[in-house]
Amino acid sequence: MSTPADAALTAPTQFRTELRADVTRGLSASPKQLPPRWLYDALGSDLFLKITELPEYYPTRSERAILTQRAAAIADITGARTLIELGSGSSDKTRLLLNALEERHNQITYAPVDISASAMKQAVAALSADYPDLTMTPLVADFTTSLTLPPLPGPRLLAFLGGTFGNLLPDERAVFLRSTRSRLAPGDRILLGVDLVKDPDRLRAAYDDAAGVTAAFNLNVLTMLNRELRADFDPDAFEHVAVWDPHHEWIEMRLRSRREQTVTLDDLGLHVSFASGEYLRTEISSKFRPRRLASELSAAGLHVTNWWTDPDGLYGLALVARDDDLTPPR
Ligand code: SAH
Ligand code: AVI
Repeated sequence: MSTPADAALTAPTQFRTELRADVTRGLSASPKQLPPRWLYDALGSDLFLKITELPEYYPTRSERAILTQRAAAIADITGARTLIELGSGSSDKTRLLLNALEERHNQITYAPVDISASAMKQAVAALSADYPDLTMTPLVADFTTSLTLPPLPGPRLLAFLGGTFGNLLPDERAVFLRSTRSRLAPGDRILLGVDLVKDPDRLRAAYDDAAGVTAAFNLNVLTMLNRELRADFDPDAFEHVAVWDPHHEWIEMRLRSRREQTVTLDDLGLHVSFASGEYLRTEISSKFRPRRLASELSAAGLHVTNWWTDPDGLYGLALVARDDDLTPPR
């Protein structure tokens, strides 16, 4: 494997500026909120991996089942020589795609992009041991603010797996899709994983597991703020809540203040009051119906060429092309 420059694996200093801006804005808003990207410090990334193994959390298993069945078809249809992956995390399911791509071309390039430097370092170390012929160009970056598709050998497949697309708000998804479309060259495709609307009880259980791992993942954002911004959140004074919003068809992860309290963030010179029972929203996780996904894509000049679900119909994987890309399928 080519050796990735260490700089590409280091969290950029601009993350600090963005964290300060997000926290100042989000804790002054009503209702209070934080963008979900801040859930993934080193511990947050480890806790997310534990979530993927929980009996209640089906999305990872469902997506893996689809990829196991369809990776060969995806490699055949796209003919991809480069796999770019947004929010790559542990790059674990990605191996199914890499295996299929490497069977068709002897030189494949993999360009993972993730905001979590720790997850990226672990993923790159594990992949370089197991894929000696793979060229890797990892990048620690925020895909919402600095999305550039590297000019790597085409056709390129842009994978956005795990349902992370659903963690963006609808307006953010629209911006993301339009800007991604403008960067696709003829023959490039997007592989988009989305969780599907289903029984609310099943959804709530997936985001409020019996072992309390999702609660720890959610509460860890407060520990991160204490460390990074010299704040004095008492994590025991908040509780994890997962709410199904039937209007937006998304799960909202929130932290609920157990009592009236004031928190100080020294680095921001900010004092933030919480009423007893007041919520801080830390994530939305949108669930899709195929028709709604198609209409969001269509508004951005994109369409689904192939659609696959797992045997239980819990989760969907879409292969997506530009409306004006007439490159015939291979
Ligand atoms: N794709 C993996 C990981 C999903 S977890 C899977 O399917 O299991 C979401 C991943 O996206 C995390 O690794 C997190 O660090 C990353 N992430 C979240 N918001 C991000 C952003 N704005 N920019 C870049 N990476 C982000
Ligand atoms: C990464 N993302 C798609 C996960 C989700 O299901 O929305 C994050 C997560 N939040 C709570 N559990 C898992």
